[in-house]
Amino acid sequence: MTSETATVFSDIVTRRISTRAYRSDPVPQSLLEEVFTVAQRAPSNCNTQPWLIHVASGAKRDALAASMTKALAEGAFSMDFPYEGVYEGVYKERQYGAAQVLYDAVGIERSDKAGRQVQFMKNFDFFGAPHVAFVFMHEGFGLREACDVGMYAQTLMLSMTAHGLASCPQTALSFNADGVREILDIDISQRLIFGISFGFPEVEAPANNAITDRGELSETVTFYE
Ligand SMILES: Cc1cc2nc3c(=O)[nH]c(=O)nc-3n(C[C@H](O)[C@H](O)[C@H](O)COP(=O)(O)O)c2cc1C
Repeated sequence: MTSETATVFSDIVTRRISTRAYRSDPVPQSLLEEVFTVAQRAPSNCNTQPWLIHVASGAKRDALAASMTKALAEGAFSMDFPYEGVYEGVYKERQYGAAQVLYDAVGIERSDKAGRQVQFMKNFDFFGAPHVAFVFMHEGFGLREACDVGMYAQTLMLSMTAHGLASCPQTALSFNADGVREILDIDISQRLIFGISFGFPEVEAPANNAITDRGELSETVTFYE
């Protein structure tokens, strides 16, 4: 293992950002399979590999975008994992900070409620991405397996970055789980956690200049001797 390897790794980790503007051209199937094959190496408790991934492109992708946009307009929510956590204190500050970085990048004032709504609705058109991966796990699973699925998702997104693709993980894509199951003909025993829009990035788009910061190491990591 060389320091060059570490530099390449750091570069991939840093270049992965939540990308919110895409080119419309699809990713070749051979590249898709390469990217997803590497991600299979993600770790999991007892190697159970509890992730179930459904990737939609083309007509299915368009049908999902239309269905989700309509569902949201009608207030039809069916989340398999409704929000539980409450963001207070530093967590709330970070949440607001991330939103502000995005609004600054796309030139939306905080007071511009209509503008923020337009930006929010782009979630349901996958920010123009030609592909979307829906991340499910079996109904009997809980927090421990969800952690495995999260590790898989980050491995997948890093694999995408390493192969020249961009991605955006989105809780918003889990708002209407019933609709996703219906369109992709997925059994009710599979529970939707979130989705990941992905494809080739629109590099020049203002939304892709939204670079979030991170806290000091001492805020979240404690070393003991
Ligand atoms: C599980 C998960 C769900 C997310 N949901 C959304 C979402 O619904 N819409 C969105 O625009 N960004 C979403 N994000 C992106 C976060 O806002 C982003 O990861 C965070 O601000 C850090 O920025 P970065 O990914 O560019 O480093 C989500 C991220 C994660 C990990």
